[in-house]
Amino acid sequence: MRKPVIAGNWKMHKTRDEALQFIFNVTVKVPNREFVETVICAQAPVLRDLVKRQGDHLRIGAQTMHEATEGAYTGETSAALLENIGVSYVIIGHSERREYYNETDETVNRKIHQAYRYDLAPIVCVGEDLSVREAGDTNLHVSAQIKQALKGLNEEQVASLIVAYEPIWAIGTGKTATPEQANDAIKNIRKVISALYNAEIAEQTRILYGGSVKPANIDALMQESDIDGALVGGASLSSKDFLTLVEAALPGK
Ligand code: PGA
Repeated sequence: MRKPVIAGNWKMHKTRDEALQFIFNVTVKVPNREFVETVICAQAPVLRDLVKRQGDHLRIGAQTMHEATEGAYTGETSAALLENIGVSYVIIGHSERREYYNETDETVNRKIHQAYRYDLAPIVCVGEDLSVREAGDTNLHVSAQIKQALKGLNEEQVASLIVAYEPIWAIGTGKTATPEQANDAIKNIRKVISALYNAEIAEQTRILYGGSVKPANIDALMQESDIDGALVGGASLSSKDFLTLVEAALPGK
């Protein structure tokens, strides 16, 4: 029922030429959006160029945005501008933003509201670090992040939300959570959403896994009951690998 999503997060990689070459390589090969949502999240200065060449089935996302509508926030990007240049998605609360730029659960919540004020689909990241995992507090930690992130959102917004469960210890480390660990954490997120809203809404929210997803592990992840796709860093830099991941997410695969 839930349409899978494969979102590439390029982080601070690729020049304009490299980015355009990638889009040229994938755009005609990306499967129909009716079956899988395919997204590339790039650095802000190339977003407009990529939107112009996204083709029929690929969509472009930003990696962050500011929660204010406009103002004296040197270096930041507004939701209004992202919408205005045709960007469709925005990653919010990535663990690197939380760690290096002091994003908190409160700013994440404000950014989600702001994304919905404009026509942007938020991809909201949550996840625990290794000490939390080892202490057995993963579900407690992630539940708290979800509760704060969703404050004040209406049912329709939560039903259309994309959440990415990304255990910090698995990001860029080559260490993937096992499909079972990922599915358990994602099931818990769905349970929290169900308790906050209702089971019907929770059944609609797409929840992705992120953390060292690559062609070698995508099939096992996608077989799990509650994993609706992936947020992919390193492996999204190669057009070949990225297309393999998108193909693997097609329903019935
Ligand atoms: P990775 O990054 O796939 O390189 O682990 C995932 C992410 O940070 O979204």
